[in-house]
Amino acid sequence: MDNNPSKAISQHARTRRVILFPFPFQGHISPMIQLANILRSKGFTISILHTQFNSPDPSRYPQFTFHLIPDGLPEDQASKGDLAGLIDRLNTNCVGPTRECLGKLLSTHDDVACMVTDAMMYSSQSVAEDLGIPRIVLRTSSVCSFLAFASVPVLLEKGYFSDILDSRREDPVLELPPLRVKDIPGIQTRNLIDVELKIIRSMVEGTKTASGLIFNTFQDLEEPNLANLKEHFRIPTFLIGPFHKFFSAASSSLLTQDRSSISWLDTQKPSSVIYVSFGSAAKMDEKDVREVAWGLAHSMQPFLWVVRPGSVQGSAWLESFPNEFLEVVSKRGCIVKWAPQQEVLSHPAVGGFWTHSGWNSVLESICEGVPMICSSLFADQPVNSRYVSDVWQLGIKLEYGLKREEIESAIRKIMLDRQGQEIRERALHLKEKIDVSLKTDGFSSQSLNALSDLISSFKSSGVSVGSE
Ligand code: UDX
Repeated sequence: MDNNPSKAISQHARTRRVILFPFPFQGHISPMIQLANILRSKGFTISILHTQFNSPDPSRYPQFTFHLIPDGLPEDQASKGDLAGLIDRLNTNCVGPTRECLGKLLSTHDDVACMVTDAMMYSSQSVAEDLGIPRIVLRTSSVCSFLAFASVPVLLEKGYFSDILDSRREDPVLELPPLRVKDIPGIQTRNLIDVELKIIRSMVEGTKTASGLIFNTFQDLEEPNLANLKEHFRIPTFLIGPFHKFFSAASSSLLTQDRSSISWLDTQKPSSVIYVSFGSAAKMDEKDVREVAWGLAHSMQPFLWVVRPGSVQGSAWLESFPNEFLEVVSKRGCIVKWAPQQEVLSHPAVGGFWTHSGWNSVLESICEGVPMICSSLFADQPVNSRYVSDVWQLGIKLEYGLKREEIESAIRKIMLDRQGQEIRERALHLKEKIDVSLKTDGFSSQSLNALSDLISSFKSSGVSVGSE
C-alpha cells in the first residue's frame, strides 16, 4: 500500500475534458483548484471558467486552460457586504455568458465529458441541461451542514423562522439533532429574506437534478449523516476529501501569505501558541475586536492572529485596536494580514486554533490534529462548529458570540487543561483515520476512483466512448 495520496492515485490514461466553474470566494476557489489538480492527476484535461470578480491568476496554473465569464458586477461589489444579493446576481448574470462560452468549447472540442460546478453556482444546472452536458456538483463544505441547508424549507414551514425569540434560540432542533435553533443556516439574521430562501432552494434543487455530488470531506467524519444524504439526494455521491492532502491550497491563495508568521512561530515553545483566524469573508466591528483582543491578552498564552485588511469595520487594518493591547502583542503575540495557514497548523509551536468554522479551516485543523475553539457567523459555520464541539468533540464552541471571559476560559481549557489534552488525543486518532482513507484501498481513494469512472462513462459531444 502507498502512503502518499498523490502517488497512490491510479494512473489510467484518460483524455477526457472536465470543465470546472468555482464560486468566486477563497473558501470555494481553493477546493475547486485542488479538485482540478486531483482530476488532472487521474488523466483528465481541465478547463476552468472564472468570473472577473475574485479571478484566480491563470499564470499560476499553466496546466489548465482558463475562460473568463463576464459577471456584470460593479467594481465595488465586494465592499457592499450584501452576500446574498451577490450570490443571486452572480448566478443570474453568468447564465448567458456561461452558455455562450460552453457552446464555443463544445464546438471546438470533442472531448468534453462534463462540468463540475460549485453548488452555489446553481444556475449552471439549467445551462448544462440545455447544452446536454452532465453537471456534477462540488459542495465545498460538510455533509452535515448541507443537510441543514436542505432542511431549511421544511423548518420554515414548521415555524422555526417566525418569531425567533431569544428564549428559543438555545432549544434543540428535533428534526436535526444535535443542532440548536440558533445553528440553523440563515436564522442568524433573525428572518430569512426572500433572496436567501431563493438561494438555498436553488442550490438544493439544482443539486438534486445533477448527475453527481462531490464533497470535500471523508467518511469517518460524516458517517452518521450518510443515510440521510442518500435519502435526500438520490444521485451518485463521492466523499473524496480532504482535498488538501492531495494538493496544498497555498497556490490558490488570493492574498499574499506573510511568511514572517512562520519565523515568529519558530521562536515559540512547542504547543504553546493559539492561532486565530476568521477566514476570508468575515467582518468584525470595533466592539468585537476589543473582546477578541482582551480575551487573548488575559489568556496569557502566546498568539498568532490573522487580521485581514478591511475586516474590521471602519479601519484599514489595526487602527481601531486598543494601544494597551498592541503593547501585549509586542511581548506575546504576532499579528499578520494573511498567513500560510496549512503550514501554521502543522507547526510544532501551534497548540490550538480559534477558527470561524469555515469548512476548509475545520478540515485543515483536523488533518493536523489541532484542537479548535469555534466561533461562527453565518452560512455553514454554526453547523460546522456544533459538530466540532458536540459530535466529533474536537473543540469548544463559543456559545455566546465574542465575550472576553468566555474566550479567555476557552483558550485556557484548550491549551492547558485535561479537556484540551483529551481533544488532542481524539484529533490525533482521527488524523490516523484520514491517512488510512487516503491509501490506495481507503474510502476516499476508492470514492475518487468511482468518480473518475463516472466521468469517463459520460458521452462526449455526441460521441459515445462507453463506460470502462
Ligand atoms: C467561506 C465560508 O466562510 C465558509 O463558511 C465556507 O465553508 C467556505 O467559504 P472562508 O470564510 O474563507 O470560506 O473560510 P474557510 O472555508 O475556512 O477557508 C479559508 C481558506 O483560507 C483556508 O483554506 C485557509 O487555509 C486559507 N487561509 C486563511 C490562509 O491561507 N491564510 C489565512 O491567513 C487564513
